Amino acid sequence: MATLIDGKDVAAKLRAQIAAEVETLDPKPGLAVVLVGEEPASEIYVRLKQKKCAEVGIESFKHELPEKTTEDGLLALIDKLNKDEKVNGILVQLPLPKHINKFKVMDAVLPEKDVDGFHARNIGLLVQGQQGLQSCTPRGVMALLKAYDIELAGKEVVVIGRSLIVGNPVAQLLMNENATVTICHSRTNDLSLYTKKADVIVSAVGRKNLVTADMVSEGAVVIDVGTVRDGTKLCGDVDFENVKEQCSAITPVPGGVGPMTIACLLENTLLAYKMQKGGA
Ligand SMILES: NC(=O)c1ccc[n+]([C@@H]2O[C@H](COP(=O)([O-])OP(=O)(O)OC[C@H]3O[C@@H](n4cnc5c(N)ncnc54)[C@H](OP(=O)(O)O)[C@@H]3O)[C@@H](O)[C@H]2O)c1
Repeated sequence: MATLIDGKDVAAKLRAQIAAEVETLDPKPGLAVVLVGEEPASEIYVRLKQKKCAEVGIESFKHELPEKTTEDGLLALIDKLNKDEKVNGILVQLPLPKHINKFKVMDAVLPEKDVDGFHARNIGLLVQGQQGLQSCTPRGVMALLKAYDIELAGKEVVVIGRSLIVGNPVAQLLMNENATVTICHSRTNDLSLYTKKADVIVSAVGRKNLVTADMVSEGAVVIDVGTVRDGTKLCGDVDFENVKEQCSAITPVPGGVGPMTIACLLENTLLAYKMQKGGA
């Protein structure tokens, strides 16, 4: 039976550390959260992020813009937030309406306030292996692996998914830890050919039962980033019930990577604050 990698527990410990540090700070770190349009899932995420900010003493400032906001209108708000000393981190909730170029928006946020790690400069620093702000979900995956002492140097890791938000940066972070990384995606011909020889599998796709027990080698570690609505339930990419009998450690969905993403957003906001004050 596999070890359950408990993201709730690791995230709670990380939030407690952040709260203890924030308590010593004056002024408090501030996070601006920008929401464009009325996507219900985005509204839930934004509310949750604000709630978690409040729990650790980080101030949050919510900016809601209508769906018809122009790209220039959004860029003007970001410019204002870039100049606002009370704002240490800026998060623009994705997805954005189709008429707005998300890359323009990502690159408009000052790199030192880019708590999502999406700015081209932060991605460049990640590739260089230098300190910058790194994408929250990939950071969360790495923190879970570290919390459970999962060795990465020299290991074969398969990342499924190559998005700029998860697959790509997590592969880079794993490589920075000296893992041998293979990235699979929708055009990979035989996924199981790669997953079967992996010591660690990180799946970030969003497809129920994409990873089944026959695709996982005995004793592998399985990190499930995927989130899929299955009726009223939430599930991941991995056939959890069967894969857990096969692997040595596994994250559940919910309660695995999800809580780590928000905890790492709080950590990034604190890191951004310290970078801006010259303390990091
Ligand atoms: N728990 C969390 O905190 C958290 C945070 C972020 C995302 N997520 C979840 O993680 C999942 C991925 O998010 P994302 O933003 O990276 O999604 P995305 O941008 O849609 O990327 C999905 C990736 O999966 C690949 N893919 C699709 N079908 C595949 C298949 N049959 N076999 C192999 N690869 C396949 C795609 O390949 P191509 O590049 O070839 O299209 C793409 O690279 C989603 O379920 C999302 O909800 C969870």
